[in-house]
Amino acid sequence: MANRILIKNIKSLVQVRDAGILKVSGAAMKELPCIDNAWMAIDNGLIADYGSMIDFPGIEDWKGLEIMDCDGKLILPCYADSHTHIVYAGNREGEFVDRINGLSYDEIFARGGGILNSAKRVSEATEDDLFEQAMVRLKEVIGQGTGSIEIKSGYGLSVESELKMLRVIKRIKDLNLIPVKATFLGAHALPLEYKNDKAGYIQLIINEMLPKIAAEKLADYIDVFCEQHYFTAEETKHILEAGKQYGLTGKVHAEQMSHFGGIQAGVECGAISVDHLEYCNDADIELLKNAGTMPTVLPGAAFFLSLPLPPARKMIDAGLGIAFASDFNPGSCPSGNMNFMMSLGCVQYKLTPEEVINACTINSAYAMQLSHEVGSITIGKKANFFITKPISSYGFIPYAFGSNVIESVYLNGVKQ
Ligand code: NIG
Ligand code: FE
Repeated sequence: MANRILIKNIKSLVQVRDAGILKVSGAAMKELPCIDNAWMAIDNGLIADYGSMIDFPGIEDWKGLEIMDCDGKLILPCYADSHTHIVYAGNREGEFVDRINGLSYDEIFARGGGILNSAKRVSEATEDDLFEQAMVRLKEVIGQGTGSIEIKSGYGLSVESELKMLRVIKRIKDLNLIPVKATFLGAHALPLEYKNDKAGYIQLIINEMLPKIAAEKLADYIDVFCEQHYFTAEETKHILEAGKQYGLTGKVHAEQMSHFGGIQAGVECGAISVDHLEYCNDADIELLKNAGTMPTVLPGAAFFLSLPLPPARKMIDAGLGIAFASDFNPGSCPSGNMNFMMSLGCVQYKLTPEEVINACTINSAYAMQLSHEVGSITIGKKANFFITKPISSYGFIPYAFGSNVIESVYLNGVKQ
């Protein structure tokens, strides 16, 4: 049955935008259009209409619908999480304790831990097992307000294991629960077998993995970890260009642990986003000004690894739009809670609640080319939204860090 719902007495309908707005930049990030004391109509999984209660629609227009009273509660579009690694096996709790006891992320990797630890576990896991573990994480983040997601491979690092991860992502995508974008991240680290043959591994990515992935239509994007001990800016460009031949748009893990040229490589290759950005400098900000590439800050990873903070405030003040994503993964951010990312954005990066909400909805949707479909309350977009508990205003969400302020989540107009 096609669901038709009319929600009335919404204390504030937040992030209401015209269909033409696909991202917001600079000073415009401080604006968050809302309709206070609003109604919203859902029809057939989509946002059909909305307005002020002063102009509440005549009931004859909405025959056979369910009417819901939202008194005292806010509605926001679901978060768009444009950077995750939720397909993985087990966890890396042991390395967390190793870091507490003084080992660095680099030292753990040099011992065969880090990404290589996860790669070993993924190689031992079955596709079903990976799917089940990922679904637990997906359901958790949906409960926390996420309504669209990007998921990367990158813990495979062999033809067989990368394909296994991407098939799991495809299974999740095919559930049609929320929009999913799949990213091929074969260039996440050098597997042990290729320890002394980086060129050989890059050839494997380009000549074996990419054609198979393309033939099975398993990926939308191609990503590279551009960093010391991982892949250089030149290698990043080479891999992104190869991906392009198969129709895959680029993304880059850029400037996370050092300034290594990932932003420039991404911009030059027309990447849709460059992510992390702890060591982003003024020249990078200039490059990004003239690009369609969305700078994406991952506040949870900088927090969990105690990294210097990316210059998010400076980027917005320079006129850039920025996105936030969780980076949910077992090593650098074992959380996909976008509410917490917003709190970090306000407290650590001095962004306003309006700026972090824009970063976590319309701009992060743009960073995975979904902002025509999700990321705002817009007629014709998917009815993926959440209803808060009775709270004073949207600013309470980042303010009340660690509290769950979400009462219910709707996907395609259906309560979860
Ligand atoms: O986005 N930076 C590289 N990759 C992941 C972390 C990978 C891991 O430690 O498992 C990230 O932070
Ligand atoms: Fe990542």
